[in-house]
Amino acid sequence: MPKWLNDAIFYEIYPQSFYDSNDDGIGDINGIIAKLDYVRGLGCNAIWLNPVYDSPFMDAGYDVRDYYKVAPRYGTNEDLVQLFKEAHAKGIRVLLDLVPGHTSDTHPWFLQAKKAAENEYSNRYIFTKTVWDAPPEYRMMCGICERDGNYMVNYFSSQPALNYGFYEVTHPEWQLPHDHPDCLKTAGAIKDIMRFWLDKGADGFRVDMADSLVKNDDEKIATAKIWRGVREMLDKEYPEAAMVSEWCHPDRAINNAGFHMDFYLDHYGNGYSRLFRYGDWGDRAAFNPNGRGSLEEFAVEYLPAYNRTKDKGYISFMTNNHDMPRVTAYLDRQAIKLVNAFIFTMPGVPFLYYGDEIGMRYQKDLVSKEGGYSRTGSRTPMQWNSGKNLGFSQSDDTYLPVDKSADAPTVENQSGDPDSIYRVVTDLIALRHKYADLHGNGELEFTFREGQLPFAFRRGGMVMYFNPTGKPAELEAVGSGDVVYKIGEAILDGSKVKMEAQSFLLVES
Ligand code: NOJ
Repeated sequence: MPKWLNDAIFYEIYPQSFYDSNDDGIGDINGIIAKLDYVRGLGCNAIWLNPVYDSPFMDAGYDVRDYYKVAPRYGTNEDLVQLFKEAHAKGIRVLLDLVPGHTSDTHPWFLQAKKAAENEYSNRYIFTKTVWDAPPEYRMMCGICERDGNYMVNYFSSQPALNYGFYEVTHPEWQLPHDHPDCLKTAGAIKDIMRFWLDKGADGFRVDMADSLVKNDDEKIATAKIWRGVREMLDKEYPEAAMVSEWCHPDRAINNAGFHMDFYLDHYGNGYSRLFRYGDWGDRAAFNPNGRGSLEEFAVEYLPAYNRTKDKGYISFMTNNHDMPRVTAYLDRQAIKLVNAFIFTMPGVPFLYYGDEIGMRYQKDLVSKEGGYSRTGSRTPMQWNSGKNLGFSQSDDTYLPVDKSADAPTVENQSGDPDSIYRVVTDLIALRHKYADLHGNGELEFTFREGQLPFAFRRGGMVMYFNPTGKPAELEAVGSGDVVYKIGEAILDGSKVKMEAQSFLLVES
């Protein structure tokens, strides 16, 4: 387990929308290098970089055409190596995005696999025996190539599934078992890609759809085995490298598959969504001041999973990511401050999505860009200052339009404002670094009151009190101590904590 993860705070950068250094309207790697001091200034000491590989961008780069080459619109491989170097010099680690489940349908492997004549890559993807064979339980593309067969897709139609075989083989005429040598070769090819970038200075990977490798593998037994093999390789060859899975099943991802971290993702109705996003645009979220939400589903899901995995890895909370509407679409400013207080004081390794620190808004109703659809509104350019395109780019034509509202938040107008989300985020991140009890693996003990809200939790010597509701409330104090931080109005008064609506108190005992 890389030790640095315990005090890691990640910043997710969507490269096309972060900072455009060459005025072509698209963010790039040199733009990220130019903003490393900003990232460090937030208190973040690690970056998750969304895919920067060569791609036709049917799914914003999650459709990889060449895993070994940086997309020209972002720069060159040398630029990426330079990013690793400069980031490291500033104490920042960089995780790339690994997409092991599928490639673009323009990837050379796939161009070979599509050919009628059998070749080295014929089994790299999952083809049926003939085009007349299209079992409805699988997502297939039919009749589009000279090879007489249909192929399985993993996500969009342009993303054919790589072949790691089947755990349960139900159609032996075209399904290979997961231990077939050609399926093992697929896993080997992914390991080669990892080695290539780790050797160049990458610090690990966020793994896209990590649970999607072996098909008909409901319990993910064979899929986990592949990842354990990857973990063995890392432990031996790259012990400092870190892996975070897009899985949202910590028992499987951390305990069975050996990931160091697993994202707590927004699945409608799960514990994460119940906290921040549940209901009609968040009207039943626990952090909505209307008090209609509850912590119960979160607690029932998260706490047992946390207890089962805490000795082996971290469950990662995120403020948002590039796949869901920004939290500003669901909650008001004060609530969002409390959300950040929660995320940055809970165990695990937290992830901050670019722009969330300034309260960037979800841009509803944008025309889809590069397969974004409803996600497009969370992928708009970073808002730096009051200049052209809010400081993102000098081009007249940007990747996506910037927020056009007169009061669009920017780094410039938020960072100096003592009442901003930015202030809370940076304060809380600094406190998290300062107090070891707030690091990733510290203890956690929740105290709930009837009705679940407000609530408190203790981590070692630190106690966090939250009143996310719109009404004043009183809580039993968990011991005594000194107030270290507060949001809104709240006081520690003997054995009671008196909290105004939407407040937070952080006490060191
Ligand atoms: C999850 C990624 O986060 C998302 O953006 C992408 O579209 C799918 N996986 C497919 O790769």
